[in-house]
Amino acid sequence: MNSYSVKELLSENLLLQEVTINGWVKTFRSNRFIALNDGSTIHNIQCVVDFESFDEELLKQVNTGAALKITGTLVESQGKGQKVEIQVSGLTVHGEADPETYPIQPKKHSLEFLREKAHLRIRTNTFAAIMRVRSALSFGVHQYFQQNGFNYFHAPIITGSDAEGAGEMFKVSTLDSKNPPVTEDGEVNFKEDFFGKETNLTVSGQLEAETYAMALGKVYTFGPTFRAENSNTSRHLAEFWMIEPEMAFFDLNDNMDLAEDFIKNVITYVLDNCQDDLQFLEKRLLDEEKTKPQAERSEMPLIEKLKFVSENSFKRVTYTEAIDILRNSKPNKKKKFKYPINEWGADLQSEHERFLVEKHFKCPVILFDYPATIKAFYMRLNEDGKTVRAMDILFPGIGEIVGGSQREERLDVLKEKMSALGIDEEELWWYLDLRKFGSAVHSGFGLGFERLVLFATGMGNIRDVIPFPRTPQNAEF
Ligand code: 4AD
Ligand code: MG
Repeated sequence: MNSYSVKELLSENLLLQEVTINGWVKTFRSNRFIALNDGSTIHNIQCVVDFESFDEELLKQVNTGAALKITGTLVESQGKGQKVEIQVSGLTVHGEADPETYPIQPKKHSLEFLREKAHLRIRTNTFAAIMRVRSALSFGVHQYFQQNGFNYFHAPIITGSDAEGAGEMFKVSTLDSKNPPVTEDGEVNFKEDFFGKETNLTVSGQLEAETYAMALGKVYTFGPTFRAENSNTSRHLAEFWMIEPEMAFFDLNDNMDLAEDFIKNVITYVLDNCQDDLQFLEKRLLDEEKTKPQAERSEMPLIEKLKFVSENSFKRVTYTEAIDILRNSKPNKKKKFKYPINEWGADLQSEHERFLVEKHFKCPVILFDYPATIKAFYMRLNEDGKTVRAMDILFPGIGEIVGGSQREERLDVLKEKMSALGIDEEELWWYLDLRKFGSAVHSGFGLGFERLVLFATGMGNIRDVIPFPRTPQNAEF
């Protein structure tokens, strides 16, 4: 007997065939209709049991959450809501789920409640849809780069450098924290640590990716990155996945073109491959928005929004232009911003980014040429001596989704910058070598994968688009 997935049963022509299916019970109505799901699609298969032909004790075990094996004939459905159903001839319970204690009952659970049950929340329609979209997005990412001549580069997870210079690193050490070896001056002696030096979990694979781009031409990383920022927001994780392409001979414009094309492509990929899940998520979002005040509702339904982004050009604006817009904006004049914009050089907060994208331009925005003082050491200095070839891509509802730049390829300028910022040349000797041997213009960017998943699914909190979120005070599971 052939075993099928629900997706196959619903999409292939298997009418009147004997089929076997394994899955979990979503609901069991009237002692007759089992809605079974196996994760292959958002849709369930209806399995119809003739209760008189089955043992009463067996049917008592058919509760929401129980794992079943069902055999039967696939027939046209008599009822509304589905085209086909299984007339059940055989039923085995793999494992029961006690309705008194199984937390995922067929009713609406809050996302907060489900976060506490992250090992079971994937059994809800919402999380199954999100995670299928997440999986498709990651395939779309690889497909895009593989089809465009990039090599996948695996950046190290443990590193000695702080790429972003923000000092938000998780330390990696095997020293006894209660009794570490100390130097003559009473400092912890990391020479005796596992690697013989201080190490941390990577905040970005960029610096290492640059070494490979300077030989393979075009590379990308797609791996976990770690930041010990103590920011408890709906956009930050302590462990998140980042996609970082790095390209030799690309200047900032090439970099922006690539980033825009890349994002549009992966969004088109999910539009083409995840219609059922997107429709479900769109409806979920519409229901959720009904409970919100009008002003906070998004203007477009999910699928329309994804199409809009994939079909329209992103607006490109310099930091200086953006500051002018913000300085003269209503919320700034009316003192509505938590961080008022008074002068050139101010770092943009998420409230400013969202104003630009959601209220002013009403489309994704690429801001570029930022003040050197608010950006990382490796970005290429412009002729004006005060801005760098940085670019951030800002998305509606998300804020910053991409951060990137053209890299400083001139040895003397880079050394000067490092010394001004107190970055030890000896620690980055290998990074400086790239500027000594065959240096060239090159660029890259980092896209926070979970922020992309947030956008694609219409979810509001980053904790709901990664299986097991790591945030301050939370590393359960
Ligand atoms: O802007 P960031 O810090 O850039 C870099 O790390 C560069 N080295 C990238 C490069 O040029 N190769 O981070 C890039 C993106 C952000 O735009 C954001 O989408 C995401 O990573 N990100 C986070 N996502 C979730 N949680 C956090 N704590 C994040 N921090 C950054
Ligand atoms: Mg950034």
